[in-house]
Amino acid sequence: MAVEEEALKPERRTRRVDSGIPGLDELLNGGIPARNVVLLSGGPGTGKTIFGQQFLYHGLTKGEPGVLVALEEHPAQIISNMLNFGWDVRKHQAEGTFEIVDAFTGGVGEYAKRERYVVKSVDDVPTFIDVVREAIRDLKAQRVVIDSVTTLYLTKPAVARSVVMTLKRVLAGLGCTSILVSQVSVGERGFGGPGVEHAADGIIRLDLDEVDGELKRSLIIWKMRGTSHSMRRHLFEITDKGIVVYPNKVLRWRRRVSEEEGA
Ligand SMILES: Nc1ncnc2c1ncn2[C@@H]1O[C@H](COP(=O)(O)OP(=O)(O)OP(=O)(O)O)[C@@H](O)[C@H]1O
Ligand SMILES: [Mg+2]
Repeated sequence: MAVEEEALKPERRTRRVDSGIPGLDELLNGGIPARNVVLLSGGPGTGKTIFGQQFLYHGLTKGEPGVLVALEEHPAQIISNMLNFGWDVRKHQAEGTFEIVDAFTGGVGEYAKRERYVVKSVDDVPTFIDVVREAIRDLKAQRVVIDSVTTLYLTKPAVARSVVMTLKRVLAGLGCTSILVSQVSVGERGFGGPGVEHAADGIIRLDLDEVDGELKRSLIIWKMRGTSHSMRRHLFEITDKGIVVYPNKVLRWRRRVSEEEGA
C-alpha cells in the first residue's frame, strides 16, 4: 500500500498490538498502534521492567516472536525473574521465538560464551544497533523491548535524540512494535529528555506516589501517535501474574493526592 494511502487510513483501521496488560488496551482504544516506538518512562521500582517483559511474553503466547535487549540486568536474572510471574521463556528460546540480546555482561563470563547476541560495549552504539538488528531479523521479531535506553546515553546526553531516532528507524523499519524503557529520577518531571520525548511515537509514564502513608502505583498515557487515548491517571497494581491496570480507578491530584473509585 502506498505511504499516502496508509497515512489516510482512519484511526479505527489502524492495526493494534495488544499489550498483554489487563486494562491497558481499553485506555488505548484497542492497543498500541503497530510499529510505534513507545517510551516507557518512570522512576526506580515503578514497574517498567515487568511491563516490558509482560508485553513480550504475551506476544510469545500468540506466536509473535520477541527480542529483549538487556542493559540493566543479567540475562539469567531476567529469565528467573520472569519465571516468578509464570512467564517461562526457555521453551520459546529453544524454538527460536525469543532471544535476549546481552548488552549487560560485556561478553565476560561463562554465561556469555553460550549466547548468540552479545554487545561488548554499549558505548559503541552502531555495533549495538547492528546486533539488535541481527537478532530481530533472525527471529522475525514483532515485539522488541530495550531495558533501558537511558543506559545508552547516560554519559552523553547530547546524542540521546540521534540514538533514539536511529533505533526508531531500525525498529519500525523491521516492522516491530517497541518499548524503550526510560529511567527518570524520583520526583523528576518529564520522561527522559526533550530529544527523546519528541522522537518517540508514544509515552507511557509509570509512577509511585505516597498517599496517606501508602505507596500507590499509577500510569498515564502522555502521548500515543495514531490513536486517541485516556487522558487520566489510572491506578495499577503489580500482582504475582504481572501488571493489572484499573481503567475505572483514577488518581486525582488536588491540594493533596486522593484516590477516587468509579471515576
Ligand atoms: N511478585 C510481585 N508481586 C508484586 N509486586 C512485585 C512482584 N515482584 C516485583 N514487584 C514490585 O515490582 C517492583 C520492581 O519492578 P520493576 O523491576 O519493573 O521496576 P523498574 O521500574 O524496572 O525499576 P528500575 O528502574 O529500578 O529498574 C518491585 O520494587 C516490587 O515493588
Ligand atoms: Mg528495571
